Amino acid sequence: MLADVVQSLSDEHVAVEGRLRMLEDAMEEPADGDLAWRDAELRSGVDYLARNLLPHLDREETEVFPEAVREPALSPLVAELQTHHEDLRRLLADAERAVDQEGPAAAMAPLGKLVELLREHIASEETALFPVLT
Ligand SMILES: [Fe+2]
Ligand SMILES: [Fe+2]
Repeated sequence: MLADVVQSLSDEHVAVEGRLRMLEDAMEEPADGDLAWRDAELRSGVDYLARNLLPHLDREETEVFPEAVREPALSPLVAELQTHHEDLRRLLADAERAVDQEGPAAAMAPLGKLVELLREHIASEETALFPVLT
């Protein structure tokens, strides 16, 4: 049932937002702070997003967006959310590449953009999309 899918995606939003706060704490670690801790947090944050955010985006695209666009008035919103998904995937791929090739500190630029966009994106889904589907 769509309501169950939406509820489980909403639960995932809460979990991912908690993880975004941890990532921000790591990114705010001063340059003379505990850089080993910061780098471990950045690395595990990128892993977490690859394992949890990517399947979340896929589920929305296969189970929610097709239902939402049956209501023509929601089409512009869904198109905007779909663009966000593509930008989020690109930013996460950039962060993964940075971790692998240059080290975790180099992932902070794409991760900072990802955190900002993902917060805005989750807020749109929670306020403008999910309430009208359930
Ligand atoms: Fe989404
Ligand atoms: Fe979402």
